[in-house]
Formats: sequence, C-alpha cells, structure tokens
Amino acid sequence: MDQNALKKAVAEAALAYIKPKLSSDSIVGVGTGSTANFFIDALAALRDDFKAAVASSEATAARLKSHGIEVIDLNEAGECEVYVDGADESNAHLHLIKGGGAALTREKIVTAASREFICIADQSKWVETLGAFPLPVEVIPMARSYVARQIVKLGGDPVYREGVVTDNGNIILDVYNFDIPDPVATEHALNSIVGVVTNGLFAARPADVLLLGTENGVETIFAK
Ligand code: A5P
Repeated sequence: MDQNALKKAVAEAALAYIKPKLSSDSIVGVGTGSTANFFIDALAALRDDFKAAVASSEATAARLKSHGIEVIDLNEAGECEVYVDGADESNAHLHLIKGGGAALTREKIVTAASREFICIADQSKWVETLGAFPLPVEVIPMARSYVARQIVKLGGDPVYREGVVTDNGNIILDVYNFDIPDPVATEHALNSIVGVVTNGLFAARPADVLLLGTENGVETIFAK
C-alpha cells in the first residue's frame, strides 16, 4: 500500500473514532499537513454532526471552508471536543515531533485547548527515539542568530528554513543531529530560550491516542 493510501485509511479511522463523541455543540480542532488534509476531506461527511471547527493554520481553514465547514476562532470556541492532527514522528509514549509544515505553534495551542488529541500517521512516522526528523523551532525573526547559538550549546545543529514565514509572521529553525533521550526536558529547555515561540516537541502534552496506518490495517495505540 502506498503512503497516501495509509494516510487516507487513518483519516477515515479518525472519523469513525470521533463520530460517537460529537454533538451539535461540539467543536472539532483540525491539524495541518497532508494526513490532516485527508481527514478534512473525510470530515465533510459529518458536517452536520458538530457545531464548527477550529483550524491550526490558514491552509487548514481554507480547506475546511471549501467543504462548507464553519471555522471559528479559538477564543470564541473555548474548548475543543477533539483535536485531530498528523505528526512527523511518534514514539511509544506518543511524544511527537511536529512542525514539518511550519504550523507547530497553532497546532500546540489547539492541542492545549482540546479534551482529546488524536494523532493520525502512517507507519513511516513510528520511531523508537525521536530526533531523526529535524526538530522545527518557531522563532521571532530578530532572535534568529541568538536562538541558533543557544541551540548549538544544547547540542543541536540549527538550520534556517529559507523562504518560510509562519502564519504568525515568524521564522523556523530546523534542528538536525539532536539527541532527544528525554523529550519533555528538551521541550522545556528549548522553550526557555528567549525568542523561541514554541518548538515541535509535543511531549509535555503528548497525543492521547495514535491511529497508525500499517500494511496490516490501522492500529490504535495508547501512550505507554
Ligand atoms: C504541520 O506543521 C505538521 O505538524 C504536520 O502535522 C506534520 O508535518 C505531518 O505532516 P504530514 O501529514 O504531511 O506528514
């Protein structure tokens, strides 16, 4: 099965997973990326089963609206019933690396404001130890060089993602060759560098459930 077929399968599994949880008052938080896009396309079928969606990026908002799904501001929404999003890597604790699509900050905000975080991913994202995928860090533009030097002190190799401006007007540093034995500690260490907006480790608040697309079907994995 190709990767897109696995992504589509997990998107459909997510739809089946959330359906019984939705009511006419429910707000659905929606992530960003190619796997999330399959979910958005599937979610159109449930358009009348929930109140509205909160989007984690401008791209996701546009795709939701193209399906006639109402998109509201998180400040108006309050808490989301569920948040569904992809990931770049997941370990067995459902600690994630996210942000390959540069939407990490809004993704982390919607995660924080959601009762349940359902991660959807194909099997290529499953890892024993996080860090082979370069870790995205969103940074205030004027702090770019300062933050990069601090990241080098922490042991990583930061690379400026050329030509990318986030939805929040900031830049991305991708951190290569980063040893991440303790994802919660690394998440906090990066967040305490002045000028960092957020980083792509979702470990302090991991996913609650991972729907993983494999050749043998979709596995439902809860955190260890
Ligand atoms: C977006 O910024 C990311 O966090 C995505 O969730 C992540 O990159 C997964 O993307 P794909 O589903 O396209 O692999």
